[in-house]
Amino acid sequence: MYLTEEQLLIYRNQGFLLLSEYFSRTEVEIMKSELSALSTENSPKKIIEKDGKTVRSLHGSHTTNDVFNCLTRHPFIVEPAMQIVGNQVYIYQFKVNLKAAFTGDIWKWHQDYIYWRKEDGMPKPQVVNAMCLLDDMNEFNGPLFVIPSSHKEEMIDITDHSPRVTNTNSNSSGESNTWISSFSANLKYSLSQELIANLVSKYGISFIKAAAGSVLFFDSNLVHASSNNISPFGRSTVIITYNSIENIPLPVQNPRPDFLVSQDYRPVTPLAPDALSQFSRSRIKF
Ligand code: SIN
Ligand code: MN
Repeated sequence: MYLTEEQLLIYRNQGFLLLSEYFSRTEVEIMKSELSALSTENSPKKIIEKDGKTVRSLHGSHTTNDVFNCLTRHPFIVEPAMQIVGNQVYIYQFKVNLKAAFTGDIWKWHQDYIYWRKEDGMPKPQVVNAMCLLDDMNEFNGPLFVIPSSHKEEMIDITDHSPRVTNTNSNSSGESNTWISSFSANLKYSLSQELIANLVSKYGISFIKAAAGSVLFFDSNLVHASSNNISPFGRSTVIITYNSIENIPLPVQNPRPDFLVSQDYRPVTPLAPDALSQFSRSRIKF
């Protein structure tokens, strides 16, 4: 489903575009019903919160899970992504952020592109995020905060000020993975309080309030964050990052794993609009 000129203009001006209740309740339930099995898999693709037990995020699930594979190729997402990026796209990154009820932790203020540039060698910010809400996002459950139009500042070049070793995640030999600091609450390239205060006084601040099934497209240089979730409401989202097929990362010294930075550069071909609802309702556990 292609965006109108007006929607594209909103995206270009504010650095994000919210499409409310884009997917049906049934489609949302089909996707949500996959989460518990994925969360119990023992895999390095799973990030745990600081408490050592709550699942924070799941990476690269689209390569093993049919429903999420289908979501990444759904025309409702891929067609706008191609319009925004101005080219054919491939899937650069896929993650589920669970932001669990009561225990989901914060995402500090940051831009995304700095990670992809500095860690992965992505040449240009010719890339877009599609955040699909699998739960309602509201003022209580740690909604996404955004600084509208802050993408116009382009990449704010800051030095890495995070501690190197961060949380309980480790690989099978017990070593800590340095890339985890890009995904834990202790974000590597987070922006300073002073900078955020200045940006907010220049552009204002907003938060995303939308029902499950809504999709937020946002720019890789949009400054964003979220607070912890102390509410009894889960706040699960899927974030798919689409990169232009002409913006393939250049070689870097310590490449991050393939499930964070996909090397499958094949352009995504959109499926039929009813692709998700084709999955049997028997998969849904109410
Ligand atoms: C992110 O920045 O990748 C996630 C933000 C959020 O889920 O609140
Ligand atoms: Mn981000």
